[in-house]
Amino acid sequence: MPTKQIVFASRNAGKIKEIKSLLSAYEIEVLSADDLDLPEVQENGTTFEENAKIKALSAAQESGLPALGDDSGLCIHALNNEPGIYSSRYAEKMGGYPNAFSDILKRLEETADKSAHFSCFLVLAFPNGETKTFEGRVDGKIVKPQKGDNGFGFDPIFMPDGYTQTFALLSEEKKNTISHRANAMNAFIEDIKNLF
Ligand code: IMP
Repeated sequence: MPTKQIVFASRNAGKIKEIKSLLSAYEIEVLSADDLDLPEVQENGTTFEENAKIKALSAAQESGLPALGDDSGLCIHALNNEPGIYSSRYAEKMGGYPNAFSDILKRLEETADKSAHFSCFLVLAFPNGETKTFEGRVDGKIVKPQKGDNGFGFDPIFMPDGYTQTFALLSEEKKNTISHRANAMNAFIEDIKNLF
């Protein structure tokens, strides 16, 4: 029976499942924003780290438990690292991901530099206001959509360095070993062993 508890400040079922399974090995019980009926917070930061911190601090203060917040997105180098923290809002504004893909490819038509990276920041916050940050990144390039059955968001146009398939075509297991989120999560797991 786990005796240690941590809150994951997210309502994303996929991410919650992933972190629950990762932390079960350390006998840490993960409670989600829905489990605790936490209020929605406004992501009004100007960086991934600020947004992750906003979510984590709010959850830690509301629950009185250590809480983890995350924020991630796609940064396209020739477009000044856009859409960055606005990744999901940009796709929404474009009327969905297929339109966002066309828009990006059009804006990159004239440039040879198709490089991009996904970034993920995880912030662990404590009820006393202390925080710790863990960062993950995966580099790659933007390609014409290659859509498989896997992935979500910008996966169909992102091909990680060293691979000939996009994130949407790679298996879930493969993506989960090389992704920005996996990298940030591994840094967090290394640290959490000393936390409790
Ligand atoms: P959030 O961190 O869940 O708020 O994700 C922000 C947005 O970044 C997502 O809605 C996607 O548009 C994009 N994104 C973040 N991680 C990934 C990924 O692994 N694949 C594809 N898109 C992603």
